[in-house]
Amino acid sequence: MLRIIISVMKVPAIEMTNVTKVFPGVIANDRVCFIVEQGEIHALLGENGAGKSTLMSILFGLYTVDSGVIKIMGKEVKIRSPNDATTLKIGMVHQHFKLVHNFTVTENIILGMESHDRFGNLSLKAAEKRVADLSETYGLSVNPQVRIENISVGMQQRVEILKILYRNANILIFDEPTAVLTPQEIDELLLILKKLKAEGKTIVFITHKLKEIKAAADRCTILRRGRSVDTVKVSETSEEELVEKMVGRVVSLRLDKKPIQLGDEVLRIEDLVVSGARSTPAVRGLSLEVRSGEILGIAGVDGNGQTELVEAIVGLRSAKSGRIFFKGKDISKESIRARNKNGIGLVPEDRHKHGLILDFRIDENLIPKNFHENPYSIYGFLQFKNIVSHVENLITQFDIRAGNGPTTLVKSMSGGNQQKVVIAREIDLSPELLIVSQPTRGLDVGAIEYIHKRIIEERDKGRGVLLVSFELDEILSLCDRIATISKGVITGVISAQDADERKIGAMMAD
Ligand SMILES: Nc1ncnc2c1ncn2[C@@H]1O[C@H](COP(=O)(O)OP(=O)(O)OP(=O)(O)O)[C@@H](O)[C@H]1O
Ligand SMILES: [Mg+2]
Repeated sequence: MLRIIISVMKVPAIEMTNVTKVFPGVIANDRVCFIVEQGEIHALLGENGAGKSTLMSILFGLYTVDSGVIKIMGKEVKIRSPNDATTLKIGMVHQHFKLVHNFTVTENIILGMESHDRFGNLSLKAAEKRVADLSETYGLSVNPQVRIENISVGMQQRVEILKILYRNANILIFDEPTAVLTPQEIDELLLILKKLKAEGKTIVFITHKLKEIKAAADRCTILRRGRSVDTVKVSETSEEELVEKMVGRVVSLRLDKKPIQLGDEVLRIEDLVVSGARSTPAVRGLSLEVRSGEILGIAGVDGNGQTELVEAIVGLRSAKSGRIFFKGKDISKESIRARNKNGIGLVPEDRHKHGLILDFRIDENLIPKNFHENPYSIYGFLQFKNIVSHVENLITQFDIRAGNGPTTLVKSMSGGNQQKVVIAREIDLSPELLIVSQPTRGLDVGAIEYIHKRIIEERDKGRGVLLVSFELDEILSLCDRIATISKGVITGVISAQDADERKIGAMMAD
């Protein structure tokens, strides 16, 4: 009885009422109401640009509200900086980690709150012990003494989690934590979230993956175009219902594909060897071919040579040995520009590093690569009208959402909309060989549906498509043939009709 009364009396951990935040040209949060109970895992779902990151950045003190009330543990608060948030025991794991690579785990964790002994030396031992204890309590398996540069992305994320636990956070915010993880790491993270919850922590979890919400969250709040439309109990709501609330229409999660019309070979790779970051071979004698009219998928666990393979094909990394043929011609020695001009397009896996110039505007990032040709340039004069209408057309087609239209700075856009800019530019060129690496990372389901359709259209036009993805679902639904990669070689190729998750898993393990 007492327990029931106590649980009824529990105040919400977070209570945001009518929170509004306006950026130039866009109302990112429009009178949003968001209530998270203590000790729950609460998912935050919404299309790209719906206002999820903004709402959480407000809670973490990165932005201040224009209006609205925020209560933490029942008390009204003003959160003006991340320091205020830390004092309120709120911590955030950002999508792009902020770790110092040549520091150890513990050094990173204590950064900004180091304590010294009476001789002025950093007292690391006590900190290391505490990090080890926290790691043990939450099942994180992090070694406090290793350097960040020597651990995987998944481990780095755990260091970020430890960093906020070390500062005694009770409310933990995760902004798309699974976007950078492999399927296995995702499963492990979901277990960690549950463990945190079992230890009494309150968790906000932003993700576009409905499966993850179903697997881990208790309740889910849906944002649509800056507004909170509903909060539901996850166990009582189907994936389809969640999607419908989020986009306001039914999204088909199944793809229709015409029968394959195989053409000539576009890409052939023979015995390719490529060095990795540490000059050990990452690709070790790999051979494969892609023909026009097909989508060949490369399935594999991150770090098995996928990145180096793609970089070698487009010329970002040189091959140590082996040959790369594009339409029958050896291009192994050609420049990046020549390969691109001859018809190899790339949607790179890291949109910030290789896909975009963040300080430039959308139109500048979308300017056609053939801007010096008719109709964008005539007699050496740029034809701005034609360029603008081309850019506007892409923005509409790909549903790129940004406050100030074509002149919006890319760095101020939501993550998913940045990704759409890269994809729009590359698919629009319709190259004869289109390489897409993790194309739908960070995209909402509606956007994924559209991008998948456009990739299939390219295939139907007779282009060759090489898809690299860690997501088996994506590989299985898009591809005509699937090759598995492991330790830098192709371990098997299978027709998509004969493939399922289990078979591919087994091929990957070979
Ligand atoms: N610093 C900023 N300056 C200007 N506009 C911004 C800024 N940050 C966000 N916006 C705009 O606010 C809106 C909401 O963006 P937000 O990043 O919160 O979306 P999101 O729901 O996190 O989307 P995604 O799923 O793509 O990450 C977008 O239209 C975005 O362009
Ligand atoms: Mg976001």
